[in-house]
Amino acid sequence: MKIEKARHTGFCFGVRRAIDLAEKAAAERHGLDTLGAIVHNRQVLEHLARLGIRAVNDIDDIRGKAVVISSHGISPQRAEAIRSRQIDIIDTTCPFVHRAQLAARRLAKAGFFVAVYGEAEHPEVKGILGWAQDKGIATMDVQVVASLDPLPRRIGLLSQTTQTPEQFAEFAKKLIDVAFTQNSELHIIDTICHDIRARQAEAVKLARKVDLMLVVGGRSSANTNHLAQLCARLTETHLVETAAEIQPSWLEGKRHIGIVSGASTDETTVNEVVAKLEEMNQSGANLKR
Ligand code: F3S
Repeated sequence: MKIEKARHTGFCFGVRRAIDLAEKAAAERHGLDTLGAIVHNRQVLEHLARLGIRAVNDIDDIRGKAVVISSHGISPQRAEAIRSRQIDIIDTTCPFVHRAQLAARRLAKAGFFVAVYGEAEHPEVKGILGWAQDKGIATMDVQVVASLDPLPRRIGLLSQTTQTPEQFAEFAKKLIDVAFTQNSELHIIDTICHDIRARQAEAVKLARKVDLMLVVGGRSSANTNHLAQLCARLTETHLVETAAEIQPSWLEGKRHIGIVSGASTDETTVNEVVAKLEEMNQSGANLKR
């Protein structure tokens, strides 16, 4: 059995940066909170909890005089609400997310209604809409925008950073049709992150040549779920958070296994998955002897 790991695994640049900043801040201040999960990965959150960092969902629950903002970022309105309580912000917003935030602000200032292609309840998306002064909407269904009555004269389209480029392009094409027939101006800015683009392209390439894909990452991680969905269209795919979740039955009759990881997955977890597969392969071979 061949086990092939994608080139881009482990933390992306933005997640690595967020964790480093949080760890540094925790070493300087005791009992630090993060507003929301700093990354969507249970193992990482457990590691941070051991350093005294805990996630709170509400500004009212912040204990100390400083709070860490996650790589997903927050709206300027929320940031202002924190500062008004004399609480310092340790900002780990990923620079790629910030690029999308600035694009939303620029569009809204220029009079565009901002449509964000993404999950409306995701913290990154909520934050981006806040940068558009809430003059916008987040959806993955183009009909939601198309049915606005009247359709805004100027529409600016962005994407959540972790969406799939092909699906964003599909959405954009449909919105072009809607805007052209209703005399609206459409401005499209591709805000999908480069890391996600590279991971997805590699995952698809790998999924085409293997008979089983394992996607390593948090079940609550948007980008990990997107990877799993892309791979599942091409071959048998399982999403695992840890090596312990691998079922021996998945490996039966498999010759070539591909491994990819979400952007918030530690390389150690990926290596544990590889080691577990090798061990299971070895013990299976021994049993057959
Ligand atoms: Fe940033 Fe992209 Fe990672 S947006 S947090 S580098 S997935």
